[in-house]
Amino acid sequence: MRRKIIAGNWKMNKDIHETATLIAELTERMKDFRNEVDVIICPPFTSLVLANALIKGSSIKMGAQNMSQYDDGAYTGEISARMLLTIGCEYVILGHSERRQYFKETDELINQKIKKALSVGLTPIVCIGETLEERESGITDKIITTQIKGVLKELTSSEVEKLVIAYEPVWAIGTGKNATPEQANQVHKLIRKLIGQMYSWNLAEKTVIQYGGSMNAQNASSLLSQSDIDGGLIGGASLKSEAFMAIIQAAVEVAK
Ligand code: PGA
Repeated sequence: MRRKIIAGNWKMNKDIHETATLIAELTERMKDFRNEVDVIICPPFTSLVLANALIKGSSIKMGAQNMSQYDDGAYTGEISARMLLTIGCEYVILGHSERRQYFKETDELINQKIKKALSVGLTPIVCIGETLEERESGITDKIITTQIKGVLKELTSSEVEKLVIAYEPVWAIGTGKNATPEQANQVHKLIRKLIGQMYSWNLAEKTVIQYGGSMNAQNASSLLSQSDIDGGLIGGASLKSEAFMAIIQAAVEVAK
């Protein structure tokens, strides 16, 4: 049985004061939580040190939203994998569609970042997904296949075992228009099939594949009950404790 992971991608939101408020609300709401699912928050870099202190004693884990493909050194403005690890990050989101779109990240670069994250012991949450144009031209499967092959290039089976994959159709991100549970599940099955072909069916069965794109309190349950959807990567709805908690609760119900 794959464990469900609910991760909040705060994006470029929440200064340190707002971070403190949101975490206080979340830890209060999660008082009776029994660890039935993994809960991760990914605040912006400037909030990570504070967030790490504030989640102590709770079951919330922490991730970053990006990192450099390089080790420490002369890379002005960048943050290394080791830096993230030493301030308490266990996860790092890599290859988010906003990084691909606005910062021109490619599968090749994302692949380098994945290798770097794994080398220090961070768990990458690797994002892939097609645009609306690609879906409408009927090439979703082709795009997903290219992305999976690109981001996993030269990774061993024991490395892939440590990854979390997030399927995030670009047209569903921040639009309020989620993929239907069936649409999402179909792509999740494809991703699992690809991992099966590239590695083994055993590994494919173990791989945690999250869905992301307008997941909210209303649609979480139906998405998370699909056979191949193992959690959610949540943007907008992770910025309010009530909405995020409702998604966590939906995951707990489905996991029962
Ligand atoms: P959204 O974002 O939930 O606001 O659509 C998801 C994401 O970008 O990870």
